[in-house]
Amino acid sequence: MCTAWGKVRGRNIVRRVSFRHSGRLKRFVGAKIMDIKRVGVIGAGTMGNGIAHVFARGGYSVVLCDVEPRFLERGLAAITKNLDREVGKDKITAEDKASALKQIEPVTDRARLAECDFIVEAATEKFEIKTEIFRDLDRLARAEVILASNTSSISITKLGAQTKRPDRVIGMHFFNPVPVMKLVEVIRGLATSQETFSETRNLALKLDKTPVEVNDAPGFVSNRVLMPLLNEAMFAVMEGVATAEAVDEVFKLGMAHPMGPLTLADFIGLDVCLDIMRVMQDGLGDPKYRPCPLLIKMVDAGWLGRKSGRGFYKY
Ligand code: 3HC
Repeated sequence: MCTAWGKVRGRNIVRRVSFRHSGRLKRFVGAKIMDIKRVGVIGAGTMGNGIAHVFARGGYSVVLCDVEPRFLERGLAAITKNLDREVGKDKITAEDKASALKQIEPVTDRARLAECDFIVEAATEKFEIKTEIFRDLDRLARAEVILASNTSSISITKLGAQTKRPDRVIGMHFFNPVPVMKLVEVIRGLATSQETFSETRNLALKLDKTPVEVNDAPGFVSNRVLMPLLNEAMFAVMEGVATAEAVDEVFKLGMAHPMGPLTLADFIGLDVCLDIMRVMQDGLGDPKYRPCPLLIKMVDAGWLGRKSGRGFYKY
């Protein structure tokens, strides 16, 4: 067990150090006990780099994989900036930042994920892209390795069915900004085993997150409830009920939301919001999930929110 509890500043880092020294998550494979030491993360975008950040900060060695070096460079720059933010807030020390960065190995060769003990996919939210990745991971990774997806709405059951190990496929849905948000939705596909669920849940706890169990259904719980709220806020703007600023003020001051729904939609990405609405519209078949025409038009225009410099607001 860790002996440095009293010496480290900040609650999070105290927990983090205790994880690092209290032994890695034990995994049982037959009679053999395996450690999760090396974690693969596919995708260095906002979610992927946040996930790599929390694993590295938690003492895990991370193989961060993306298709082009420039995406990896951008992801590592974001991780560095966010670790700096944590140093600035006295949550971690400069040495913690340096050792977290050292834990992350950026790669473009997906075959390198064969060395990993647990893999989280955080690639683009398109079914065809994830399908290809899951088939490839199934071929690459050792048979006992859990393949998790950070998908925000795509069926875990369908992703599992792309593999020969549907019992070891699960949803591990983090929230943006990943280093800050406590929640991890842990989603069971139809074939996900209890062992896979328990191991993934334990892993989330080791990262100092709070796992919440959810069954597989379009949008899970988080986006099934959140996205219609954001979509309805867009209808209110489109119909001239109020400006984007006014809608956001209503939710910040009246409901104590940290961000109004339109600021949040810009933060998540309007293309991501549209993709999720469409998955729910297709999967649940209820007209209440119809994407707001203004959302469709803005995505068509390339106004994707904060990341493109323009959404409901200009950045
Ligand atoms: N990395 C590390 N730390 C970060 C960070 C990051 N990327 N972004 C913010 N922080 C830290 C700050 O350092 C600060 O720390 P402190 O509390 O110790 O001072 C804290 O977070 C708050 O940040 P700020 O003071 O800069 O700004 P705010 O107080 O405005 O908070 C926010 C920013 C945390 C983003 C807050 O506005 C918020 O909680 N917004 C809602 C976010 C949300 O709803 N996320 C879920 C989106 S849905 C999703 O991800 C699911 C997907 O499937 C769509």
